[in-house]
Amino acid sequence: MKAIYPGSFDPITNGHLDIIQRAAHLCTELIVAVLQNSEKQSYFLIEERLDMIKKATQNLKNVRVRSFEGLSVELCREEKADCLIRGMRDIGDFRFEWEAAQLNKNLGSIETLFLMTNTQYAFLSSSRVREIARLGGNVAHWVPESTHKYLFPSKEG
Ligand code: PNS
Repeated sequence: MKAIYPGSFDPITNGHLDIIQRAAHLCTELIVAVLQNSEKQSYFLIEERLDMIKKATQNLKNVRVRSFEGLSVELCREEKADCLIRGMRDIGDFRFEWEAAQLNKNLGSIETLFLMTNTQYAFLSSSRVREIARLGGNVAHWVPESTHKYLFPSKEG
C-alpha cells in the first residue's frame, strides 16, 4: 500500500513523527506531503518544514518527503497513492477530519485511514509548540531534535 500523509507540519512534532513511524510500518511507501498554501501564512518557510521532516525521518527507508499545492486528492492521483493517512487526537479533531475525509472520498474516491494519536501526544499541536518556544519554554520532549535549531536559532552554534 502506498499512502500519503498530508499536513502543514508547521513545525513537525513528535506526535506527527509517531504517526509517520506507525504508518510507515503499515505501508510499502509513505509520502509525507507538506502543504504549500499561498493563502494560509505558515510560520516556517516550506523549505524549513521540508528540511525538518527529512532530517527527522532519514532513518525510515520507505518514507519520502515532498511539498504540494492544491487538493490532496490530486496529489494522490499524481503519486498513484492508495489512500491518505491522518492522525486523530481526540473528539476535537473529529469534525474537521470527518468533513475532509468525506470531501476527499467524493472528490477523488480516496479513502482516509486514521491512526489514533498516542496518548502521550494527544494534547500536542504545532501552534502550542510555537507558542511555548516563543515564550522560552522547554519543548525538547515534543519535537524531534533536528527541529530545535529552527525553534531556537540563536541557541545554536
Ligand atoms: O496539518 P493540517 O493543517 O491539519 O493539515 C490540513 C491538510 C493539509 C491535510 C488539509 O488542509 C488539506 O488537505 N489541504 C489541501 C486542500 C484540500 O485537499 N482540501 C480539501 C480537503 S480538506
